[in-house]
Amino acid sequence: MESIVLIGFMGAGKTTISKELATTLNARVVDMDDVLVERIGQPISDYFEEHGEASFREHETNLLKEALNEESVIATGGGVILQKENQQVLSDKLVVYLKADANVLVKRIREDKVNVRPLAIKNDDGDLKRLFFSREKLYEKLAKITVDTSEKLPKDIVSEIIQQVEVAS
Ligand code: S3P
Repeated sequence: MESIVLIGFMGAGKTTISKELATTLNARVVDMDDVLVERIGQPISDYFEEHGEASFREHETNLLKEALNEESVIATGGGVILQKENQQVLSDKLVVYLKADANVLVKRIREDKVNVRPLAIKNDDGDLKRLFFSREKLYEKLAKITVDTSEKLPKDIVSEIIQQVEVAS
């Protein structure tokens, strides 16, 4: 199985869908944020505060290359597409863009009290939407497959991904 890389903004469903997709395909799953939290030894929001975003991005860039060494379903963090190096690495990979409406994304981000994103702390809803719009073209450009997650159940999203992967391969 070729690795499947899920990209998309915060709240797009990358973590949930990666787990369900990996279970369905009987594949290994790598949730990059989870691995990074383990590596940096603190919540991402604390790390941003103490060491800055640029340092987090370095860890993220290193981990992406590592994760791709083994076949897996990879849930990336929403900002992985920002680094030129990552854009290059992802250019020939099976990248699935989980897309959602900006209002849905902001609602999901605000409702997630367990995973409080650093960028959601310092940005209001309008800022978050602007951040999403500023990245949207990059997600679209890197995607081989796009699935809208705004109003669908995880099992239906997973079926749609599998169907589209079959068509694309
Ligand atoms: C980020 C998204 C987060 C996490 C970090 C930065 C971003 O991951 O990597 O807070 O820049 O969009 P999720 O997309 O899994 O929330």
